[in-house]
Amino acid sequence: MAVPQADPPAIPILSAANERFMAAAIRFGFRHAGLTGTNPSVATLIVRDDGAGPRIVGRGITARGGRPHAEAQALGEAGTLARGAVAYVTLEPCAHHGRTPPCAEALVASGVSRVVSAAADPDPRVDGKGHAILEKGGLSVTPRVMAKEAASDLSAYLTRHARNRPQITLKMAVSPDGMIGRKGHGQVFITGPIANRQTHLVRARHDAILVGMGTVREDDPGLDCRLPGLENRSPRRIVLDPDLTIEPETGLVRSARQTPLTIVARGDTDADKRQSLMAAGADFVACDVVPGTGRVALPELMEDLGATGIQNILVEGGATVGESFLEADLVDRLILVEGETMVGEGGIVSPIDVASGKQRFKLTERLRFGPDQWFEFERRI
Ligand SMILES: NC(=O)c1ccc[n+]([C@@H]2O[C@H](COP(=O)([O-])OP(=O)(O)OC[C@H]3O[C@@H](n4cnc5c(N)ncnc54)[C@H](OP(=O)(O)O)[C@@H]3O)[C@@H](O)[C@H]2O)c1
Repeated sequence: MAVPQADPPAIPILSAANERFMAAAIRFGFRHAGLTGTNPSVATLIVRDDGAGPRIVGRGITARGGRPHAEAQALGEAGTLARGAVAYVTLEPCAHHGRTPPCAEALVASGVSRVVSAAADPDPRVDGKGHAILEKGGLSVTPRVMAKEAASDLSAYLTRHARNRPQITLKMAVSPDGMIGRKGHGQVFITGPIANRQTHLVRARHDAILVGMGTVREDDPGLDCRLPGLENRSPRRIVLDPDLTIEPETGLVRSARQTPLTIVARGDTDADKRQSLMAAGADFVACDVVPGTGRVALPELMEDLGATGIQNILVEGGATVGESFLEADLVDRLILVEGETMVGEGGIVSPIDVASGKQRFKLTERLRFGPDQWFEFERRI
């Protein structure tokens, strides 16, 4: 493949700048998290130095729905300025011919002199092949720059490839005495407004929020993102309701036209009721049930939801559902928000608290939002 000559020649960019530009690319890539279907939200920056210091001449991010890819857009924006420049990509460029030619080939054809990449792509159609195309095309390749940081943002995509299901985050608000609510008292506010806003931000970063019917009956929750400016990032709500007991009057059903609602129910449940729920805007996923308990078979459901393009799911309760996900070893990330008010007698015991979370998972983050403590954990590999 002919490589156009650099005109004017760009000055090499020092590798000391790698982390700075990769960090910017990772932040940029986050913008379309959750909006790119089965594709990861990748970012590319084209950077060149004509003598006055490095500057970004092209930037791209995986488009909504997954196409076009970030590299093609960044190269398009840079035009001939790509010649001799450096491309920063948050994931190894793709190597396979799909609906569009591989990004690795597009990078070679553009005349960029070097590609700095972050996370490795476990997709067998890419896995090392993207870098090989670049090197064969005469480009210098610097892989694994800020790989851990990029992989953390792309972790839903990476989990889907590694485990053939969406990435699952279990989030619970827990009182200091280890409770998540009180039976028969509806929604008990365990955390304050600052932590709750953070929860809404976490919601916006997920493709779906999942709860059990116990929470729907008790709390009638909205499960949407109510942060100003991010209202349109409310994820799909998923309810585990194998016997199809959900009432058409619940808030989730009434809001199904604004924010999608998926009801997970057995295929042989009341057809008329399904019809009326569908008429209200809900959709259905048929489930297998666990013999004996009649509860939704979670591993199979996760596989089915993954096949629909859902990359990550935020499980927001309640206690029984949280316990089921933990028991099935389906929790990749855990968020525990510890409030300061005791629930006391009659409380619903959380299936996991900070102490047991630390034993089972790796603590990765500890933050404070007003009076509440926010703990993030991830699976021990
Ligand atoms: N603090 C927090 O972060 C938080 C968050 C959410 C909820 N909550 C509180 O939690 C309480 C509700 O918890 P809960 O334990 O009663 O109910 P839940 O966990 O919300 O829902 C449990 C129900 O979901 C259905 N289900 C179907 N398949 C299941 C499966 N594989 N595993 C588990 N459940 C499955 C079953 O309903 P059927 O029996 O109808 O089939 C089951 O009884 C409420 O008081 C709520 O306020 C607290």
